[in-house]
Amino acid sequence: MGRYIYLIFLLSLAPVTFDLAVLAELQYSDKHPYSEDNNINDVHHMYSDYGSNYHTYTDKNGDMDIPIILWWTSASLYPHHDRQGTVIQCEDVQCYSSANRNQLSDKRTRGIMFYGTDFDPTDLPLPGASQHEWALFHEESPLNNFILNHNIFLKLINHTATFRRESDYPITTQNIYHPDFLTIKQPMPLTVKNEKRKKNNLAPVLYVQSHCEVPSDRDRYIEELMKHIDVDSYGSCLHNKDLPDHLVDPASNFEKDEFLELIQSYKFHLAFENAICKDYMTEKLMRPLHIGSVPIYRGSPNAKDWMPDDKSIILVDDFESPKELADYIKYLDTHDEAYEKYLEYKKPGGVKNKMLIEHLANRKWHVNIDGSMEYFRGFECHICQKLNERYTLEKAHGLDPTVELLPPKTANVSHLGCPQPYTSLGHPEDIKNTSDLWRKMEWVEMYWEGFDQARAVRNMLLNHETKPSTYKKYLRKIRG
Ligand SMILES: *[C@@H]1O[C@H](CO)[C@@H](O)[C@H](O)[C@H]1NC(C)=O
Ligand SMILES: *[C@@H]1O[C@H](CO)[C@@H](O)[C@H](O)[C@H]1NC(C)=O
Ligand SMILES: *[C@@H]1O[C@H](CO)[C@@H](O)[C@H](O)[C@H]1NC(C)=O
Repeated sequence: MGRYIYLIFLLSLAPVTFDLAVLAELQYSDKHPYSEDNNINDVHHMYSDYGSNYHTYTDKNGDMDIPIILWWTSASLYPHHDRQGTVIQCEDVQCYSSANRNQLSDKRTRGIMFYGTDFDPTDLPLPGASQHEWALFHEESPLNNFILNHNIFLKLINHTATFRRESDYPITTQNIYHPDFLTIKQPMPLTVKNEKRKKNNLAPVLYVQSHCEVPSDRDRYIEELMKHIDVDSYGSCLHNKDLPDHLVDPASNFEKDEFLELIQSYKFHLAFENAICKDYMTEKLMRPLHIGSVPIYRGSPNAKDWMPDDKSIILVDDFESPKELADYIKYLDTHDEAYEKYLEYKKPGGVKNKMLIEHLANRKWHVNIDGSMEYFRGFECHICQKLNERYTLEKAHGLDPTVELLPPKTANVSHLGCPQPYTSLGHPEDIKNTSDLWRKMEWVEMYWEGFDQARAVRNMLLNHETKPSTYKKYLRKIRG
């Protein structure tokens, strides 16, 4: 739940008007991917990859000679009922999964699970042991824990589940909720869009964002863009339009369908990620594709690799300036045929990207319709299989030294690592205004602080440090 806490922290920092638009945006973009399931104890729990070959049960004796996976961070994300130890059966292998830290010293503990946001260098699972394999899952961009960007840190990790395709258990398409998600909904017909536009006096472009201070510096660019083309901004960032009365009524719950209808009538969506990382694509991109509005996208530099065809999004980085981008949007806005090319993928057979089709058909985890997903347990099973593989060979090697052991396996910067934050327009040195929000957030400083943190953690492990509390000493030493 670290993300929620962080959000509240951010909201408390900025003078945000906590109106319904904010609530909407929170639901819209920062929903937790895992919703607690209370019926998961002792029942067969189905999910795509393992199907009926996955189940969990409580073993009262707890004395089987199988690997233990210890969930070190994020107690609230622990996906089983019994925190003291649940047997997970993943196809033909078993592990204990536990959130009981006393088991760190158990010889069978071989997997240690971290949720990226909550990885805390002052709270390491020490003393370490050679059989410990660290596993990291993180579906977000690392804007709340910059240690995750650095190779030095990622090389301390053995297994990953992140948005990067290079990750061991990639969840790159986590916001494509099911294989037909991008095509199942037809766009609102252009004639209807045009009618609604006139009737309700809408701009061609929509922006809904309430998380304004982010490493990607998105609002600087959008503010400039707004000088050249009309944008309706309903969120608290660059707010210039209130939601219609029937959506703002605080007494009634936020009406999802009506909100969708509103945003569907826009021809274009500004879809700017909070950080610029390869393969980091959120619902900001996937939702406009789902509802049939054209995303104007700034985020993963290789986003096109995952798009349904080569003309479904407009990439901000293809344009020299916000003005040039605005001119192109205006052109599409007045040339229906050119605009509709961007929605061709909605037609039967319109999805041309073979990699995307195959990936969606074969991915090992599934996402529930409401956006919650099963990759937590899927990744845990992945780890369980890897741990068993190594453990079985070790035992066999003990009996017969000619049996070969597996080579070490570690992650690296390609499993997550986002580059140093940069301004969305101009250069960081050009920002003379000391009240500038991006400058005030000190993203660059935080990035390099993450580098120092990574070095301190690495040095602790190299020194076989046994006390987590020594972290500060290591950090001081690095900073000289
Ligand atoms: C796990 O990663 C650590 C740090 O890089 C490495 O020393 C160790 O050999 C790895 N363990 C396995 C089993 O590959
Ligand atoms: C980093 O990890 C990727 C994917 O696991 C691997 O293919 C690549 O060789 C690694 N790079 C380095 C420099 O070790
Ligand atoms: C400096 O930035 C702040 C915050 O964005 C803004 O309110 C203020 O008008 C800016 N000052 C100048 C001189 O541009």
